[in-house]
Amino acid sequence: MKGQITLTMIKPFAVKQHNVGQILSDIEKAGFHIRALKMTQLPAEKAEIFYAEHRERSFFPQLIEFMSSGPVVVAMLQKDNAVADFRQLIGSTDPSEAAEGTIRRKYAKDKTRNAIHGSDSDDSAVRESRFFFSSMEEFVY
Ligand code: TYD
Ligand code: MG
Repeated sequence: MKGQITLTMIKPFAVKQHNVGQILSDIEKAGFHIRALKMTQLPAEKAEIFYAEHRERSFFPQLIEFMSSGPVVVAMLQKDNAVADFRQLIGSTDPSEAAEGTIRRKYAKDKTRNAIHGSDSDDSAVRESRFFFSSMEEFVY
């Protein structure tokens, strides 16, 4: 399964803008298979754990406030070369630098409200999937 999985979150601003359906559609059209899916809201303490690697960065407080400000839609996705292909689909962190046609270019507002998360490695994908989903919430079909 390693190399086949990535974890995504549609972030609060994109959820509030009613872009969930279009973003999930873009993801499925790009060949990703949804293994798990839910809407939830992260308390700040949970967002701090999810983004622990960025704890010392200047943008961290703003990131945590934003990510806990409203519901997120989280999905575990399956595809060959999932992590790299998904990061290509979403585009650069800063939407002003994201390529035409990418999800961040289409739906992001700015560097913080950048619409969507994608795991940065296979190990992160596993860790982030375990963070959100139990085995009973994951489906092979
Ligand atoms: P990072 O892991 O560097 O980006 P990515 O989501 O593309 O893997 O950063 C995590 C999130 O932190 C990013 O999606 C948005 C936020 N962030 C900022 O708000 N400002 C910044 O300057 C950076 C680098 C990130
Ligand atoms: Mg990252």
